[in-house]
Amino acid sequence: MTTRLTIRTPDDWHLHLRDGAMMEGVLPHSARHFGRAIIMPNLVPPVVTGDQAAAYRDRILAALPEGESFEPLMTLYLTEATNAEDVRRAAESEIIRAVKLYPAGATTNSDSGVRDFDKVRGVLETMAEIGLPLCVHGEVTDADIDIFDREAVFIERVLDPIRRTTPGLRVVMEHITTYHAEQYVRSAEENLAATITVQHLMLDRNDMLVGGMRPHYYCLPILKRREHRETLVRAATDGSDRFFLGTDSAPHPTHKKEAECCAAGCFTAPIALSCLAEVFEAAGALDKLEKFVSQNGAAFYGLPQHTSEITLEKGAPLELPNFVETGSGPVTVFDPGQPLHWRVV
Ligand code: NCD
Ligand code: ZN
Repeated sequence: MTTRLTIRTPDDWHLHLRDGAMMEGVLPHSARHFGRAIIMPNLVPPVVTGDQAAAYRDRILAALPEGESFEPLMTLYLTEATNAEDVRRAAESEIIRAVKLYPAGATTNSDSGVRDFDKVRGVLETMAEIGLPLCVHGEVTDADIDIFDREAVFIERVLDPIRRTTPGLRVVMEHITTYHAEQYVRSAEENLAATITVQHLMLDRNDMLVGGMRPHYYCLPILKRREHRETLVRAATDGSDRFFLGTDSAPHPTHKKEAECCAAGCFTAPIALSCLAEVFEAAGALDKLEKFVSQNGAAFYGLPQHTSEITLEKGAPLELPNFVETGSGPVTVFDPGQPLHWRVV
């Protein structure tokens, strides 16, 4: 039985760090285990220009604990007013590594997102030309579409048309939650990949809703039924190149989660790798964990693999932290509801 696993340093291809006191509180929990992360731009107000991304990156680097070599990979929040030349300049100077598309109103802080996709066509064409990936929050926001169907409908109504009108555009479907998305990625050309979160590999909607409603499991896209989770586990563990980790670790102060109208997001960063080792071990695929967390994402983004390594060790069930204290209040750490045995040493 494997009880020790050494892999290249992992990266997180979808991370919310927020800003200010919250960022200072949560950043060490990603920097400890991950070498790089794609940093989401949904601040208030959002990060929309190259200059704003550079300033945000400087704030993150300034908040890094001594001796950590974490590299934030910045993104711009696509709006109908985004300037294609600004995107080109920021990409060419390596200030940004991707642009993020939020359909307006899809999730936390997405009000400035895109309503009319014709308005962003010029930016998408520039991105296709320079090979800059578009990260997509793949849910429609139409009030008449059921929340559990919003990903599948997005593929058909929005994503597939965008990919047809902008051939060559590199796209990451983020935090996929359904077999519709998994099938779409597998059937597409190599310029389409997908990230998968920890919670969507471990939980289904019953875990969130049966026997009482668990606000710390509420995230967007919302947890789906068990069959979808099983499909995602296969996608992550079968050695495919096209699926990789994006934790979507999304901290909110505990009082905003345990509220009448609960904020969406699971704060998984501190225990993400312990959770994933458990999932991969249960699938008999510990040997594929390195591809999923350390290799596929870097290859898709055209970045070098890390030469450094981390080691995970299996032992007695871990004592999980309940909270991380931040200057914006305590943030409840994701609890998958099952014992975890693997820890990063
Ligand atoms: C994210 C957040 O809190 O910023 N929430 C979430 O449920 N995943 C936004 C997002 O990625 O949708
Ligand atoms: Zn997110």
